[in-house]
Amino acid sequence: DKGGWSSFMAKEVAEQPDAVANTLRGRIVGDAVVVPELAAFGDDVLAGIRRIVIIACGTAAYAGMTAQYAIEKWARVPVTVELSHEFRYRDPVISDDTLVISISQSGETMDTLMAVKYAREAGARVISVCNTQGATIPRESDAVVYTHAGPEVAVASTKAFVAQITALYLFGLHLARVRGTLSEAEQAEQVGELTAIPAKIATVLESSATIAQLAHWMADTRAVLFLGRHVGFPIAMEGALKLKELAYIHAEGFAAGELKHGPIALIEPGQPVFVVVPSPRGSATLHPKVVSNIQEIRARGARVIAIAEQGDVAVLPFADEVVRIPLAGALFEPLLAVVPLQIFAMELSIAKGLDVDQPRNLAKSVTVE
Ligand code: BG6
Repeated sequence: DKGGWSSFMAKEVAEQPDAVANTLRGRIVGDAVVVPELAAFGDDVLAGIRRIVIIACGTAAYAGMTAQYAIEKWARVPVTVELSHEFRYRDPVISDDTLVISISQSGETMDTLMAVKYAREAGARVISVCNTQGATIPRESDAVVYTHAGPEVAVASTKAFVAQITALYLFGLHLARVRGTLSEAEQAEQVGELTAIPAKIATVLESSATIAQLAHWMADTRAVLFLGRHVGFPIAMEGALKLKELAYIHAEGFAAGELKHGPIALIEPGQPVFVVVPSPRGSATLHPKVVSNIQEIRARGARVIAIAEQGDVAVLPFADEVVRIPLAGALFEPLLAVVPLQIFAMELSIAKGLDVDQPRNLAKSVTVE
Protein backbone atom coordinates (compact mmCIF):
# COMPACT_ATOMS: atom_id res chain seq x y z
CA ASP A 1 0.00 0.00 0.00
CA LYS A 2 1.54 3.29 -1.12
CA GLY A 3 -0.44 5.17 1.53
CA GLY A 4 -1.36 8.02 -0.82
CA TRP A 5 2.13 8.44 -2.26
CA SER A 6 2.74 8.32 -6.03
CA SER A 7 5.27 5.50 -5.64
CA PHE A 8 6.70 3.20 -2.99
CA MET A 9 9.97 5.03 -3.39
CA ALA A 10 8.40 8.41 -2.59
CA LYS A 11 6.81 6.83 0.48
CA GLU A 12 10.05 5.19 1.59
CA VAL A 13 12.08 8.38 1.10
CA ALA A 14 9.56 10.18 3.31
CA GLU A 15 9.75 7.42 5.93
CA GLN A 16 13.47 7.94 6.52
CA PRO A 17 13.13 9.90 9.77
CA ASP A 18 11.10 7.00 11.20
CA ALA A 19 13.48 4.41 9.79
CA VAL A 20 16.40 5.96 11.66
CA ALA A 21 14.36 6.46 14.84
CA ASN A 22 13.22 2.83 14.77
CA THR A 23 16.77 1.58 14.29
CA LEU A 24 17.92 3.63 17.29
CA ARG A 25 15.08 2.48 19.54
CA GLY A 26 16.08 0.29 22.48
CA ARG A 27 19.78 0.62 21.74
CA ILE A 28 20.62 3.77 23.69
CA VAL A 29 20.87 3.61 27.46
CA GLY A 30 21.35 7.04 29.03
CA ASP A 31 24.22 8.59 27.10
CA ALA A 32 25.70 5.32 25.88
CA VAL A 33 25.05 2.81 23.13
CA VAL A 34 24.19 -0.72 24.20
CA VAL A 35 23.07 -2.96 21.36
CA PRO A 36 21.44 -5.95 23.12
CA GLU A 37 21.99 -8.24 20.13
CA LEU A 38 25.76 -7.88 20.53
CA ALA A 39 25.53 -9.71 23.86
CA ALA A 40 25.76 -12.81 21.65
CA PHE A 41 29.49 -12.09 21.89
CA GLY A 42 31.08 -11.53 25.27
CA ASP A 43 32.71 -8.13 25.74
CA ASP A 44 36.04 -9.99 25.83
CA VAL A 45 35.41 -11.24 22.29
CA LEU A 46 34.56 -7.74 21.02
CA ALA A 47 37.56 -6.30 22.83
CA GLY A 48 39.82 -8.90 21.21
CA ILE A 49 38.84 -8.18 17.62
CA ARG A 50 41.85 -7.19 15.54
CA ARG A 51 40.18 -6.51 12.21
CA ILE A 52 36.73 -5.91 10.75
CA VAL A 53 35.75 -6.81 7.20
CA ILE A 54 32.43 -5.45 5.94
CA ILE A 55 30.84 -7.32 3.04
CA ALA A 56 27.85 -6.19 0.99
CA CYS A 57 26.64 -5.34 -2.51
CA GLY A 58 25.21 -2.22 -4.11
CA THR A 59 23.77 0.44 -1.84
CA ALA A 60 24.51 -1.69 1.23
CA ALA A 61 28.21 -1.59 0.32
CA TYR A 62 28.09 2.21 0.31
CA ALA A 63 26.53 2.11 3.78
CA GLY A 64 29.51 -0.04 4.77
CA MET A 65 32.01 2.38 3.23
CA THR A 66 30.41 5.24 5.14
CA ALA A 67 30.53 3.34 8.43
CA GLN A 68 34.17 2.39 7.87
CA TYR A 69 35.18 5.98 8.67
CA ALA A 70 33.14 6.06 11.88
CA ILE A 71 34.03 2.60 13.22
CA GLU A 72 37.76 3.14 12.72
CA LYS A 73 37.63 6.58 14.28
CA TRP A 74 35.63 5.54 17.31
CA ALA A 75 36.77 1.97 18.02
CA ARG A 76 40.33 2.15 16.59
CA VAL A 77 40.03 -1.17 14.77
CA PRO A 78 41.10 -1.49 11.12
CA VAL A 79 38.04 -1.83 8.87
CA THR A 80 37.96 -2.82 5.23
CA VAL A 81 34.90 -2.91 2.99
CA GLU A 82 34.55 -5.44 0.21
CA LEU A 83 31.99 -6.39 -2.34
CA SER A 84 30.71 -9.83 -1.32
CA HIS A 85 31.31 -11.35 -4.76
CA GLU A 86 34.95 -10.23 -4.83
CA PHE A 87 35.74 -11.14 -1.22
CA ARG A 88 35.38 -14.87 -1.32
CA TYR A 89 37.10 -15.44 -4.62
CA ARG A 90 40.44 -13.92 -3.72
CA ASP A 91 41.49 -16.19 -0.86
CA PRO A 92 41.22 -13.47 1.81
CA VAL A 93 43.19 -13.68 5.05
CA ILE A 94 40.69 -14.45 7.83
CA SER A 95 41.30 -15.62 11.37
CA ASP A 96 39.28 -16.00 14.55
CA ASP A 97 40.06 -12.42 15.58
CA THR A 98 38.49 -11.16 12.34
CA LEU A 99 34.94 -9.91 12.63
CA VAL A 100 32.94 -9.95 9.43
CA ILE A 101 29.89 -7.70 9.18
CA SER A 102 27.48 -8.40 6.36
CA ILE A 103 24.97 -5.78 5.28
CA SER A 104 21.86 -6.75 3.33
CA GLN A 105 18.43 -5.18 3.27
CA SER A 106 16.75 -8.34 2.03
CA GLY A 107 18.99 -10.80 3.83
CA GLU A 108 18.72 -12.99 0.73
CA THR A 109 21.40 -11.63 -1.63
CA MET A 110 23.18 -14.78 -2.78
CA ASP A 111 26.59 -13.14 -3.23
CA THR A 112 26.51 -11.91 0.37
CA LEU A 113 25.10 -15.16 1.74
CA MET A 114 27.90 -17.17 0.13
CA ALA A 115 30.50 -14.71 1.47
CA VAL A 116 29.04 -15.08 4.98
CA LYS A 117 29.24 -18.87 4.80
CA TYR A 118 32.78 -18.65 3.48
CA ALA A 119 33.85 -16.32 6.31
CA ARG A 120 32.41 -18.55 9.02
CA GLU A 121 34.02 -21.65 7.57
CA ALA A 122 37.33 -19.76 7.63
CA GLY A 123 36.88 -19.12 11.36
CA ALA A 124 35.58 -15.55 11.46
CA ARG A 125 32.65 -14.39 13.56
CA VAL A 126 29.84 -12.87 11.52
CA ILE A 127 27.35 -10.17 12.44
CA SER A 128 24.64 -9.34 9.93
CA VAL A 129 22.94 -6.02 9.54
CA CYS A 130 19.62 -6.86 7.95
CA ASN A 131 16.18 -5.34 7.44
CA THR A 132 14.16 -8.52 6.94
CA GLN A 133 13.23 -10.51 10.01
CA GLY A 134 14.15 -14.20 9.78
CA ALA A 135 15.88 -13.94 6.38
CA THR A 136 18.55 -16.43 5.33
CA ILE A 137 21.68 -14.35 5.99
CA PRO A 138 20.76 -13.62 9.65
CA ARG A 139 20.11 -17.34 10.16
CA GLU A 140 23.62 -18.09 8.91
CA SER A 141 25.26 -15.50 11.19
CA ASP A 142 26.50 -15.47 14.79
CA ALA A 143 24.53 -12.31 15.61
CA VAL A 144 22.12 -10.01 13.82
CA VAL A 145 21.42 -6.32 14.21
CA TYR A 146 18.08 -5.62 12.53
CA THR A 147 17.56 -2.22 10.97
CA HIS A 148 13.79 -2.01 11.67
CA ALA A 149 13.30 0.37 8.71
CA GLY A 150 10.05 -1.40 7.81
CA PRO A 151 9.44 -3.24 4.53
CA GLU A 152 11.20 -1.65 1.56
CA VAL A 153 9.34 -2.29 -1.70
CA ALA A 154 10.96 0.03 -4.26
CA VAL A 155 13.90 -1.69 -5.91
CA ALA A 156 16.25 1.24 -5.30
CA SER A 157 17.14 1.27 -1.62
CA THR A 158 16.58 4.46 0.39
CA LYS A 159 15.29 4.10 3.93
CA ALA A 160 17.18 0.82 4.36
CA PHE A 161 20.40 2.69 3.50
CA VAL A 162 20.05 5.33 6.21
CA ALA A 163 18.97 2.63 8.65
CA GLN A 164 22.04 0.54 7.76
CA ILE A 165 24.37 3.46 8.45
CA THR A 166 22.54 4.05 11.73
CA ALA A 167 22.88 0.39 12.78
CA LEU A 168 26.57 0.36 11.87
CA TYR A 169 27.17 3.57 13.82
CA LEU A 170 25.44 1.99 16.82
CA PHE A 171 27.73 -1.00 16.40
CA GLY A 172 30.77 1.31 16.23
CA LEU A 173 29.77 3.15 19.40
CA HIS A 174 29.01 -0.10 21.23
CA LEU A 175 32.42 -1.43 20.22
CA ALA A 176 34.13 1.82 21.28
CA ARG A 177 32.47 1.59 24.71
CA VAL A 178 33.58 -2.01 25.19
CA ARG A 179 37.11 -1.22 24.03
CA GLY A 180 37.31 2.01 26.01
CA THR A 181 38.36 4.09 23.01
CA LEU A 182 35.90 6.94 23.55
CA SER A 183 35.42 8.93 26.74
CA GLU A 184 31.93 9.06 28.23
CA ALA A 185 31.64 12.66 27.03
CA GLU A 186 32.65 11.71 23.48
CA GLN A 187 30.21 8.78 23.50
CA ALA A 188 27.43 11.10 24.74
CA GLU A 189 28.22 13.62 22.00
CA GLN A 190 27.86 10.98 19.26
CA VAL A 191 24.64 9.68 20.82
CA GLY A 192 23.31 13.23 20.74
CA GLU A 193 24.21 13.50 17.04
CA LEU A 194 22.45 10.21 16.25
CA THR A 195 19.24 11.01 18.10
CA ALA A 196 19.04 14.39 16.32
CA ILE A 197 19.17 12.80 12.85
CA PRO A 198 15.46 11.97 12.33
CA ALA A 199 14.37 15.60 12.78
CA LYS A 200 17.21 16.80 10.56
CA ILE A 201 16.24 14.39 7.76
CA ALA A 202 12.71 15.77 8.07
CA THR A 203 14.17 19.25 7.48
CA VAL A 204 16.02 18.06 4.37
CA LEU A 205 12.78 16.58 3.04
CA GLU A 206 11.32 20.10 3.05
CA SER A 207 13.59 20.88 0.05
CA SER A 208 11.92 18.14 -2.03
CA ALA A 209 10.05 20.54 -4.32
CA THR A 210 13.20 22.53 -5.15
CA ILE A 211 15.12 19.36 -5.98
CA ALA A 212 12.21 18.07 -8.08
CA GLN A 213 12.29 21.29 -10.10
CA LEU A 214 16.02 20.89 -10.67
CA ALA A 215 15.52 17.31 -11.85
CA HIS A 216 12.78 18.32 -14.25
CA TRP A 217 15.04 21.02 -15.75
CA MET A 218 17.71 18.38 -16.24
CA ALA A 219 15.52 15.68 -17.77
CA ASP A 220 17.59 15.46 -20.97
CA THR A 221 20.97 15.31 -19.24
CA ARG A 222 23.15 12.51 -20.58
CA ALA A 223 25.76 12.20 -17.84
CA VAL A 224 26.08 13.41 -14.26
CA LEU A 225 29.14 13.39 -12.03
CA PHE A 226 29.18 13.30 -8.23
CA LEU A 227 32.09 14.40 -6.05
CA GLY A 228 32.57 13.86 -2.34
CA ARG A 229 35.35 13.54 0.14
CA HIS A 230 35.76 11.55 3.38
CA VAL A 231 32.26 10.24 4.24
CA GLY A 232 30.95 12.29 1.33
CA PHE A 233 32.79 9.96 -1.06
CA PRO A 234 30.54 6.90 -0.58
CA ILE A 235 27.58 9.28 -0.72
CA ALA A 236 28.77 10.55 -4.12
CA MET A 237 28.90 6.94 -5.33
CA GLU A 238 25.46 6.22 -3.89
CA GLY A 239 24.07 9.33 -5.63
CA ALA A 240 25.50 8.07 -8.92
CA LEU A 241 24.14 4.56 -8.38
CA LYS A 242 20.66 5.93 -7.73
CA LEU A 243 20.76 7.86 -11.00
CA LYS A 244 21.91 4.81 -12.98
CA GLU A 245 19.26 2.60 -11.40
CA LEU A 246 16.33 4.99 -11.67
CA ALA A 247 16.95 7.34 -14.59
CA TYR A 248 19.27 5.15 -16.73
CA ILE A 249 21.72 8.02 -16.91
CA HIS A 250 25.45 7.49 -16.99
CA ALA A 251 26.62 8.68 -13.61
CA GLU A 252 29.91 8.36 -11.74
CA GLY A 253 30.88 9.17 -8.18
CA PHE A 254 34.44 10.25 -7.46
CA ALA A 255 36.55 11.09 -4.45
CA ALA A 256 37.05 14.83 -4.81
CA GLY A 257 40.79 14.46 -4.21
CA GLU A 258 40.96 12.16 -7.22
CA LEU A 259 39.62 14.83 -9.58
CA LYS A 260 43.05 16.08 -10.67
CA HIS A 261 44.21 12.49 -11.25
CA GLY A 262 41.79 11.88 -14.10
CA PRO A 263 38.11 12.76 -13.85
CA ILE A 264 38.68 16.49 -14.42
CA ALA A 265 39.28 15.57 -18.07
CA LEU A 266 35.54 14.82 -18.26
CA ILE A 267 34.55 18.38 -17.41
CA GLU A 268 33.23 20.35 -20.33
CA PRO A 269 30.86 23.30 -20.49
CA GLY A 270 27.44 22.44 -19.11
CA GLN A 271 28.47 19.16 -17.44
CA PRO A 272 26.33 18.78 -14.29
CA VAL A 273 28.37 17.93 -11.18
CA PHE A 274 26.92 17.34 -7.73
CA VAL A 275 29.37 18.11 -4.96
CA VAL A 276 28.84 16.88 -1.42
CA VAL A 277 30.59 19.64 0.53
CA PRO A 278 31.98 18.78 3.99
CA SER A 279 31.09 21.10 6.84
CA PRO A 280 33.39 24.11 7.29
CA ARG A 281 33.14 23.56 11.08
CA GLY A 282 33.30 19.77 11.25
CA SER A 283 35.91 19.36 8.49
CA ALA A 284 37.93 22.57 8.66
CA THR A 285 40.80 20.95 6.74
CA LEU A 286 38.78 19.33 3.96
CA HIS A 287 36.18 22.04 3.38
CA PRO A 288 38.55 24.50 1.63
CA LYS A 289 39.97 21.68 -0.49
CA VAL A 290 36.52 20.75 -1.76
CA VAL A 291 35.65 24.40 -2.35
CA SER A 292 38.78 24.70 -4.47
CA ASN A 293 37.70 21.57 -6.42
CA ILE A 294 34.43 23.36 -7.10
CA GLN A 295 36.35 26.41 -8.37
CA GLU A 296 38.43 24.20 -10.67
CA ILE A 297 35.47 22.51 -12.31
CA ARG A 298 33.46 25.71 -12.47
CA ALA A 299 36.34 27.38 -14.31
CA ARG A 300 36.01 24.62 -16.93
CA GLY A 301 32.31 25.24 -17.36
CA ALA A 302 30.77 22.62 -15.06
CA ARG A 303 27.28 23.25 -13.78
CA VAL A 304 27.74 22.78 -10.03
CA ILE A 305 25.02 21.64 -7.66
CA ALA A 306 26.42 21.84 -4.13
CA ILE A 307 24.97 19.94 -1.19
CA ALA A 308 26.22 22.14 1.63
CA GLU A 309 25.59 22.89 5.25
CA GLN A 310 23.29 25.77 6.17
CA GLY A 311 25.34 28.94 6.48
CA ASP A 312 28.27 27.71 4.37
CA VAL A 313 28.75 30.85 2.29
CA ALA A 314 32.08 29.80 0.78
CA VAL A 315 30.28 27.75 -1.89
CA LEU A 316 27.99 30.58 -3.00
CA PRO A 317 30.24 32.31 -5.55
CA PHE A 318 30.95 29.06 -7.42
CA ALA A 319 27.80 26.94 -7.23
CA ASP A 320 24.92 27.19 -9.69
CA GLU A 321 22.56 25.62 -7.17
CA VAL A 322 22.93 25.02 -3.46
CA VAL A 323 20.86 22.45 -1.58
CA ARG A 324 21.12 23.07 2.15
CA ILE A 325 21.41 20.46 4.87
CA PRO A 326 21.21 21.13 8.62
CA LEU A 327 24.36 21.31 10.74
CA ALA A 328 25.58 17.94 11.98
CA GLY A 329 28.83 16.36 13.12
CA ALA A 330 31.13 15.47 10.21
CA LEU A 331 30.42 11.73 10.40
CA PHE A 332 26.67 12.30 10.42
CA GLU A 333 26.39 14.42 7.28
CA PRO A 334 25.95 11.36 4.99
CA LEU A 335 22.59 10.63 6.62
CA LEU A 336 21.44 14.08 5.48
CA ALA A 337 23.37 14.60 2.23
CA VAL A 338 22.11 11.40 0.63
CA VAL A 339 18.48 12.49 0.81
CA PRO A 340 18.59 15.21 -1.89
CA LEU A 341 20.46 12.78 -4.16
CA GLN A 342 17.76 10.14 -3.71
CA ILE A 343 15.05 12.69 -4.47
CA PHE A 344 16.94 13.99 -7.50
CA ALA A 345 17.23 10.49 -9.02
CA MET A 346 13.58 9.71 -8.28
CA GLU A 347 12.36 12.97 -9.82
CA LEU A 348 14.56 12.60 -12.88
CA SER A 349 13.09 9.13 -13.39
CA ILE A 350 9.59 10.62 -13.13
CA ALA A 351 10.53 13.44 -15.53
CA LYS A 352 11.63 10.80 -18.05
CA GLY A 353 8.37 8.91 -17.61
CA LEU A 354 10.07 5.82 -16.15
CA ASP A 355 8.91 3.31 -13.55
CA VAL A 356 10.42 4.57 -10.30
CA ASP A 357 9.66 1.48 -8.24
CA GLN A 358 10.58 -1.17 -10.80
CA PRO A 359 13.53 -0.01 -12.91
CA ARG A 360 14.31 -2.15 -15.94
CA ASN A 361 16.60 -5.18 -15.54
CA LEU A 362 16.80 -4.91 -11.73
CA ALA A 363 15.37 -7.04 -8.95
CA LYS A 364 14.85 -6.12 -5.31
CA SER A 365 16.82 -9.08 -4.14
CA VAL A 366 19.20 -11.01 -6.31
CA THR A 367 19.13 -14.64 -5.19
CA VAL A 368 21.47 -15.95 -7.85
CA GLU A 369 25.25 -15.59 -7.94
C1 BG6 B 1 20.62 -4.94 -5.70
C2 BG6 B 1 19.47 -4.00 -5.43
O1 BG6 B 1 20.33 -5.90 -6.64
O2 BG6 B 1 21.00 -5.51 -4.47
C3 BG6 B 1 20.11 -2.86 -4.64
O3 BG6 B 1 18.93 -3.52 -6.65
C4 BG6 B 1 20.67 -3.39 -3.35
O4 BG6 B 1 19.13 -1.88 -4.34
C5 BG6 B 1 21.60 -4.58 -3.58
O5 BG6 B 1 21.40 -2.37 -2.73
C6 BG6 B 1 21.88 -5.33 -2.30
O6 BG6 B 1 20.68 -5.85 -1.79
P1 BG6 B 1 20.54 -6.30 -0.29
O7 BG6 B 1 19.15 -6.84 -0.12
O8 BG6 B 1 21.59 -7.35 -0.06
O9 BG6 B 1 20.80 -5.10 0.55
